Amino acid sequence: MKPILEAQNVTKHFPTGGGLFAKKGLVKAVDGVSLSIVPGETFAIVGESGCGKSTLARLLMRLLDATTGDVIFDGRQVTTAQGRALSDLRRDVQFIFQDPFSSLNPRMSVGRLVGEPLEVHAPNMSKADRRAKVSDLLAQVGLRPEHAARYPHEFSGGQRQRIGIARALATGPRLIIGDEPVSALDVSVQAQVVNLLGDLGRDLGLTLILIAHDLAVIRHMSDRVAVMYLGRIVEQAPADALFDTPRHPYTRALLDAIPDPDDRGTAARPRIDGEMPSPLDPPPGCAFHTRCPHATDLCRTDVPAPQTASDDHMTACHHWRDIPASPRTTTPTRRSPATQARLELYRQATEGAKIIPVATPTPHDREDTI
Ligand SMILES: Nc1ncnc2c1ncn2[C@@H]1O[C@H](COP(=O)(O)OP(=O)(O)OP(=O)(O)O)[C@@H](O)[C@H]1O
Ligand code: SF4
Ligand SMILES: [Mg+2]
Repeated sequence: MKPILEAQNVTKHFPTGGGLFAKKGLVKAVDGVSLSIVPGETFAIVGESGCGKSTLARLLMRLLDATTGDVIFDGRQVTTAQGRALSDLRRDVQFIFQDPFSSLNPRMSVGRLVGEPLEVHAPNMSKADRRAKVSDLLAQVGLRPEHAARYPHEFSGGQRQRIGIARALATGPRLIIGDEPVSALDVSVQAQVVNLLGDLGRDLGLTLILIAHDLAVIRHMSDRVAVMYLGRIVEQAPADALFDTPRHPYTRALLDAIPDPDDRGTAARPRIDGEMPSPLDPPPGCAFHTRCPHATDLCRTDVPAPQTASDDHMTACHHWRDIPASPRTTTPTRRSPATQARLELYRQATEGAKIIPVATPTPHDREDTI
């Protein structure tokens, strides 16, 4: 199947320092990332804080310029897009920010916030049509038409994120990138927003890229997962394969650190030893060697090339074949009906079958309305 988005060996190096107190250097925030994302899938990018997830997300939709490499959306170059091509990209690819408190202008009413992208991308739409469209968008995210007259401070965190999602949907995007879209929210509302995104992905045939540092959040809704460490993808696999048979020691450590919901907080969880090294001065060889219990001399000198462990399962580790399976016990994946339905569509699509769009439900059909 033709990918909707591809990244080819993308890097982003930030020059830093050079002042009185700091040495000049280069932060290798993203360091040679290649990805291929197919239409309709939910692709998750995970990794510890500072590994380069947000930088990569911004490169993918050209909120940042890459140092080297190419990004291609629907066959069109993102990295060099200008004028009309860039404006089309802004319509087709939308972003949902982590912090619904600071990403919405407090002086704009919800109606204006959600309608603003329409003013830019559909300038000929009449005011009446725009108002009707805003009402539809609010309904799609489980809000009411009368909310259009209110201001962001009158809403809870979960509701504000719904406003952010309605705003992202306004242009009729084909791809939405969510940078930690639920991590600033109370745990109790995280699942509602995650379910909403999953439902919208299925109902509107959207492709989703979800960024998270918490593997537990994306476990039940992603089709494929990429694990990042110090600017590189170290493992990439279908979600089931990644959770059930992780091949990279870093992925195993991340999975082992997920709290088990049945522990009720009593059992001590293993932590990943040591700090992530600075991207200003990444270790030679495998960047994970300073924390890896399996590191050898080879790991300290040679960068591991990506290797295919099984169908669509890539790992960048010299010794993945020799490392015994993790003794971690896996709990069976519990997927929401929305994710299950989307996975079926994805499987059919990748087998060459046609995706049939599902009608958009009314907010009353949703189980997660506020
Ligand atoms: N504009 C910038 N100038 C210099 N360094 C930057 C800049 N933006 C990001 N970085 C650095 O690049 C690295 C990756 O940052 P990034 O924000 O992409 O990480 P992240 O994985 O999104 O982390 P988090 O989970 O905390 O959001 C970090 O070391 C960060 O300090
Ligand atoms: S290449 Fe070596 S250091 Fe890196 S993850 Fe594999 S075993 Fe560990
Ligand atoms: Mg980030």
